[in-house]
Amino acid sequence: MAEAANGGSAEKISLAEIGLRFEVDGEIATITLDRPDRRNAQTFATWSALAHIGDNLPQQVRIVVVRGEGPSFSAGIDLRMFTPEGVLGQGSFAAAAALDDPAFEELIAQAQRGFLWLRRPGIISVAAVHGHAIGAGFQLALACDLRVLADDAQLCMKEPALGLVPDLTGTKPLVDLVGLPRAIEICLTARQVGAQEAARIGLAELVVAPEELAGAVRDLTAALLATGRDAATATKRLLQGAAGRTLEEQSAAERREQIVRIRTLFAGS
Ligand code: CAA
Repeated sequence: MAEAANGGSAEKISLAEIGLRFEVDGEIATITLDRPDRRNAQTFATWSALAHIGDNLPQQVRIVVVRGEGPSFSAGIDLRMFTPEGVLGQGSFAAAAALDDPAFEELIAQAQRGFLWLRRPGIISVAAVHGHAIGAGFQLALACDLRVLADDAQLCMKEPALGLVPDLTGTKPLVDLVGLPRAIEICLTARQVGAQEAARIGLAELVVAPEELAGAVRDLTAALLATGRDAATATKRLLQGAAGRTLEEQSAAERREQIVRIRTLFAGS
């Protein structure tokens, strides 16, 4: 069960009703966007459910795979949000526009919570992207640590073309990955970035044929699990902090992490 945001109120609805599946197999959890008839369009309920999954992730999980059912990874936000009647039980942009600033900020912050946990140091998140990843779909892929793309993948940051900004945590990873000029070009043209270009500019770790996507993700996750959990967590934490530190600060951070590792491994031996 998950709480679906509703312009400030909340109701309990099931993952199946929201169009999500969540499966755990040992150390690997798989989140599947499962509304193929709507091209896995996302709603406030999707984001609340993602946050709920993050809050309740089984302790043993080390890898989280995010994938989509049907022809597209995700066609972004449910376009019914743009209509006056909105999405049944979840409000509309028109209803959100009437909220005061703190309530409106909180609504967006709640949506962002569904994405932010995917960067937690203790897990590695992998987006398996095929077909379209538009708007919120592209941002969900960007929220993950790694992206494996089928060669039919098309990434598009469509929000500016709809008068909006990308606000589901995607702007920072996009700039970090491709640099500011390319990020401006991708967002403000709202063009589609194909899989091969995505790999070339740093948006994908791997591109494979669509029928090989699941196998490639399986191979990658198996390889990632070869490293022990504590060393993997500490190393990810270190790498995540690198861009924001000077060389001296990063060297100090390396020392601190290594002291903990070596004491854990060798103290008293
Ligand atoms: N919301 C709701 N329904 C959607 C949808 C969406 N975002 N995208 C597709 N659907 C529905 C279609 O209405 C259609 O429904 P019917 O069968 O009832 O007609 C069904 O899914 C299949 O869609 P298509 O026939 O269009 O499928 P396609 O394979 O030919 O095209 C597509 C796929 C290119 C993704 C196309 O559907 C499309 O362009 N969708 C809209 C994409 C979009 O503009 N998304 C918003 C991005 S901005 C964003 O996400 C904002 C944010 O974060 C704040």
